[in-house]
Amino acid sequence: VSNVTPRWEHGSSLPFPDLAGEESPGFVRCYPTVLGTSVSGRGALLSILARVVQPQSRVWMPAYFCPDVRDAVRRACDNEVLPFPDRPRDRAFELPADLLRSGDVVVVQNLFGIRSAPAYDPEVRRSCVLVEDHTHDPLSEWALTTTVDYAFASLRKTLPVPDGGLIWSRSQGEAFPVVPNSMRMLEAIGDRVKAMLLKKEYLLGTDDVTKGAYRSYEARVEAEFARLPHGAMTALSTALLEVFPVDRWRDVHRQNFAYLSERLRSAGFDVLEASAPDAAPFGVVADLHDAALTARVRDGLLARDIYPCVLWRGEHAPDGFEQEHLILRCDYRYDKDDLGRVADAFLMLAR
Ligand SMILES: Cc1ncc(COP(=O)(O)O)c(C=O)c1O
Repeated sequence: VSNVTPRWEHGSSLPFPDLAGEESPGFVRCYPTVLGTSVSGRGALLSILARVVQPQSRVWMPAYFCPDVRDAVRRACDNEVLPFPDRPRDRAFELPADLLRSGDVVVVQNLFGIRSAPAYDPEVRRSCVLVEDHTHDPLSEWALTTTVDYAFASLRKTLPVPDGGLIWSRSQGEAFPVVPNSMRMLEAIGDRVKAMLLKKEYLLGTDDVTKGAYRSYEARVEAEFARLPHGAMTALSTALLEVFPVDRWRDVHRQNFAYLSERLRSAGFDVLEASAPDAAPFGVVADLHDAALTARVRDGLLARDIYPCVLWRGEHAPDGFEQEHLILRCDYRYDKDDLGRVADAFLMLAR
């Protein structure tokens, strides 16, 4: 017991959660058939590609996509990797059906967790291997009901686990081998656990934990993840996922998304709308349509301990979106008071 004052901040990495009194429906049992796990989304995708890519396959990926993942794919396979249009401001991606060849592998994503299940061209379904990335909302209805060849998600972006990636499918039954992790990878994941625990203490107001302390662990583990081979999800993350109140958290995401979107929209600002009726995004994507204004608002938010994120720097978003948006997290960590404070700051800076 101490008289420390909690520190308020918004956004940035997920601290270790407080699970007192929470009821969990279990996580893995939400999925039709889990075929394999990885410490990451990248690892999950690379396992799928190792199975389905043939010598003649091209690998199609969204033009606007996680650069770490695309780089990992380029390093792992010699096949041609091609982009197809996936513009954040559009409601759906566009598969270039006339360019796809039999045996091609097509990776699509539920960008920002706001999209609904696409209606694929039956010929594309028949002749290509479809792989869906559900990282931005691993428990969406689309994710849980999809019938494409393979689906995967990185879990550590939306859930407070130190590592985690899942592969599932309703149409394939063959499990992926369980690949052990190197000692170095386990140490790196241990560092992420330290970062999550230290951040929790920092937010509680503990005097002897600084921001620099947990940030240094975070930087170290990101560098190791970019370098080391990725084995199966750890037992720690698997166990944590089973005790998280994932249904309640998704309800909070949905309500927070509606509240924060409406605050910005009713003041005349553009936010990306969800096309999926059950969408429970981790953040509201504010589209400011102006790079200088975006930079100014971002700097003002940072000065107020509000950390907006941006997906993705250096990515091909032809219409300037990359420089003109800010993502304000609306996840399970926050309530209306927090998001009211975020909306007030945003509107004051952006007007
Ligand atoms: C859509 C998407 N897929 C995959 C990943 C990669 O996940 P990981 O870092 O666990 O490999 C990310 C990371 O941000 C992502 O946004």
